[in-house]
Amino acid sequence: MNILLLGSGGREHAFAWKLTQSPLCKKLYVATGNAGTAQIAENLPIKPTDFESLANFCKEKNIQMLVVGNEEPLVAGIWDFFKKRKDLEHIHLIAPSQAGAMLEGSKDFAKQLMFEHQIPTASYHTFGANEFEKALQYIYNHSLPIVLKADGLAAGKGVLICPTYSQAEKTLKEMLLDKKFGKASEKIVIEQFLEGIELSVFVLTDGKNYKILPEAKDYKRIGENDTGLNTGGMGAVSPVPFADKDFMQKVEQKIIVPTLQALQQRNINYVGFLFIGLMKVGNEPYVIEFNCRMGDPETQVVFPRIENDLVELLLATATQKLNEIQLKIKPQTAVTTIVVSQGYPENYETGKEILNLEKIEHALIFHAGTKQENGKLLTNGGRVLALTALADTLPQAIAFSQQAAEKVSFSNKYFRRDIGKDLL
Ligand code: AMP
Ligand code: GLY
Repeated sequence: MNILLLGSGGREHAFAWKLTQSPLCKKLYVATGNAGTAQIAENLPIKPTDFESLANFCKEKNIQMLVVGNEEPLVAGIWDFFKKRKDLEHIHLIAPSQAGAMLEGSKDFAKQLMFEHQIPTASYHTFGANEFEKALQYIYNHSLPIVLKADGLAAGKGVLICPTYSQAEKTLKEMLLDKKFGKASEKIVIEQFLEGIELSVFVLTDGKNYKILPEAKDYKRIGENDTGLNTGGMGAVSPVPFADKDFMQKVEQKIIVPTLQALQQRNINYVGFLFIGLMKVGNEPYVIEFNCRMGDPETQVVFPRIENDLVELLLATATQKLNEIQLKIKPQTAVTTIVVSQGYPENYETGKEILNLEKIEHALIFHAGTKQENGKLLTNGGRVLALTALADTLPQAIAFSQQAAEKVSFSNKYFRRDIGKDLL
């Protein structure tokens, strides 16, 4: 079948890599893709939120499956747009509805749903733009540190952990009064700080059945030993040793099952990936956030461990037959190291020539911010490449991934050298 994939990051190159391994995939298109997806699929200059153009393209090229990688089209309602069009209803959509995508699109919505269904999460309160004084009072009556979150999508920048009251007050003012994140911070969630270790859990659901995919640990901070600014993710590891059977059973019973039930009870259509960002506090899981998509860079370690044909898996998802699928997971460990442009996640330069990829052994090369221009491979974003190694042991996977990151060459390259080492 002809498949259209939306997105342009390392996650989407990993999707494209896995989709094109399937004999069921006749032709793959990616909107907009990167230089990596261009090697195995056809990139399109259509924005993932330009639904009208995507719909026209799907009809023109007889697209039979649409896979959405990034959150923006989901939160903007791509499922609803396609579903209400008779001429598009035959397309298998791997995308939750707009109401389902609210789990990521509105932190207030996600928190309300969790509290209604007793899903463990940090205590919180939501405040609107005209509630500055009330919010301030709430902060000063709260223990430190305190967490302030923009309600809407803020490209991963909308969460601030404030260690002092004065910082919390300043952040509150920036978010609520100065609208630092625009519409996204018209409402804010103020919540309790959870102390623990983080874990990313992925669920694929057809609306009735679900499969738990391999879990992963993401390394979010720019600096080694988890220091400095938050990024989209600087590396990832799967499996995660502390996510043992016992703990994962708790995650399933206390979080996954009630969340999917809550969606069903509200008649919210949810077909696709659900990404649960968790904090393991003691031996208990707490939800930090929901995302309505796979993680980036987690996908770059999760997908290489899945043996199943991804198109088959997604077809079963779209036709509510996930119960007929048996997941086959490789026991090996996958480690990915993200190579970024110096300055990321703040200002960085692009257009630098990338060399030496042909010298990489023992690692998969997933492109993120790259483009091909005049026969040259150039940097085109903060996160440039994800180098994933799969090996029998964690130390070996770390070593292969790091060696690959070392070999890549472009000016002002940076990567963390400690990915996975905390788990040894
Ligand atoms: P989010 O964008 O919701 O993933 O938040 C970004 C990061 O902030 C998370 O990955 C956590 O490291 C941290 N974080 C968010 N909420 C909390 C919380 N309630 N307690 C502690 N850390 C948090
Ligand atoms: N790696 C975190 C995310 O994809 O949101």
